[in-house]
Amino acid sequence: MPAIVLIGAQWGDEGKGKATDLLGSRVDYVVKFNGGNNAGHTVVIGTQKYALHLLPSGILTPNVTPVITNGVVVDIEVLFHELEALISRGVDVSRLLISANAHVITAYHRTLDKVTERFLGKRQIGTTGRGIGPAYADKINRLGIRIQDLFDENILRQKVEGALEQKNHLLVKVYNRRAIIIDEIVDDLLSYAERLRPMVADTSLILNQALDAGKTVLFEGGQATMLDVDHGTYPFVTSSNATSGGASTGSGVAPNRIDRVIGIVKAYTTRVGAGPFPTELFDESGEFLRANGFEFGTTTGRPRRCGWYDAPIARYSARINGVTDFVLTKLDVLTGLTTIPVCVAYDVDGVRVDEVPVSQSDFHHAVPIYEEFPGWSEDITGARSFEDLPLNAQNYVLAIEAMSGSRISAIGVGPGREAIVVRHDLLGADEV
Ligand code: GDP
Ligand code: IMO
Ligand code: MG
Repeated sequence: MPAIVLIGAQWGDEGKGKATDLLGSRVDYVVKFNGGNNAGHTVVIGTQKYALHLLPSGILTPNVTPVITNGVVVDIEVLFHELEALISRGVDVSRLLISANAHVITAYHRTLDKVTERFLGKRQIGTTGRGIGPAYADKINRLGIRIQDLFDENILRQKVEGALEQKNHLLVKVYNRRAIIIDEIVDDLLSYAERLRPMVADTSLILNQALDAGKTVLFEGGQATMLDVDHGTYPFVTSSNATSGGASTGSGVAPNRIDRVIGIVKAYTTRVGAGPFPTELFDESGEFLRANGFEFGTTTGRPRRCGWYDAPIARYSARINGVTDFVLTKLDVLTGLTTIPVCVAYDVDGVRVDEVPVSQSDFHHAVPIYEEFPGWSEDITGARSFEDLPLNAQNYVLAIEAMSGSRISAIGVGPGREAIVVRHDLLGADEV
């Protein structure tokens, strides 16, 4: 099974980093194909905890080649900062490859992200403030700066001039900020060029050749299905395609080379930032999930909004992404609850709706219809096989599996690398 896509099935922070790390030693390449340093993946290896933002989580595994492809937006200052932090902890980062076609996040993207959010007032998205939206907007507007532009000063200057022509008017006249100085941006970007040069590559060619040679390539999605710019809760989304299709456009590896899609789904739901969230809890149950699951953002430290498992969302994700296997994470966080509600459908203005409504207004009004399952009080963090789980935990998993549109192949029972119950091999090694 050479090409596998791993994506978030809810609103992010499902534990994609841990799942990638889990597969780590069995894959040859780990590819980040969308987003930028808005992602925050926490990986716990023994007593060591790593927080990765721009770099793919596979960078922590010896002998894996981490790759940043064309679909990513790269803040180069953050890139070197993250690399240096890993080097100082003894991680070998020497194999990292970056696409010449990846776009660059500059200081003016970060500035614009912050001022536009402020001007949105009540309609704020609650972005991570990393310049993601403005960098993708420039890409789509054909005003973006790409990694390859850093190696031609004339081209770079022309492109920065072009990008700033309108933006400086906007910053000064509308947002009351100082104009961005072209030379400062150009000099800043050029200062990284020589350090960057050895990492820059035709990543689409390299990945396709790797697949031809029978290597295993794991595409690690940032963000998640419900944050996808096309399939998420627009406009409360990120600006890239976080769904499995994004792995193809974001890397130049064709859809028919992808063999497996692994959806990461939490045993409950969380969301950071604004936007609809039908099962959100505002009571002590929400506090319970936040405290037990330590639901605070890896990137911004913001408390995450918490709610019960939403089966229509899991089904939607299974469909949009073609999920072949789910990894259900953080089941241990539910330990201690007497009953566990699961959203099985919605009530939209008095009508039962079984799937995620296509109309955003309907989704805003959707009131969850819950089915309740008995909880368990036994500590499950030591469980390593399905039978090790208390019967009520097994039944909870089987019940949500039946509603979620694909099989649950692995179950997370703690943050550590070893805290996992595997029911089916995620790379399909147990299939005939
Ligand atoms: P990502 O963005 O999808 O990679 O997820 P984050 O790293 O932002 O958030 C997931 C958090 O849950 C991290 O702190 C992980 O260490 C932690 N985690 C992952 N799987 C499990 C699990 O099965 N149980 C518990 N308790 N924590 C987990
Ligand atoms: P990982 O990869 C959770 C959210 C932000 C905001 C919206 C847009 O760790 O799962 P952006 O800065 O991307 O323009 O913000 O998307 N968001 C995430 N929420 N996990 C993430 O990444 C996220 N990346 C962006 O909170 O609501
Ligand atoms: Mg995260």
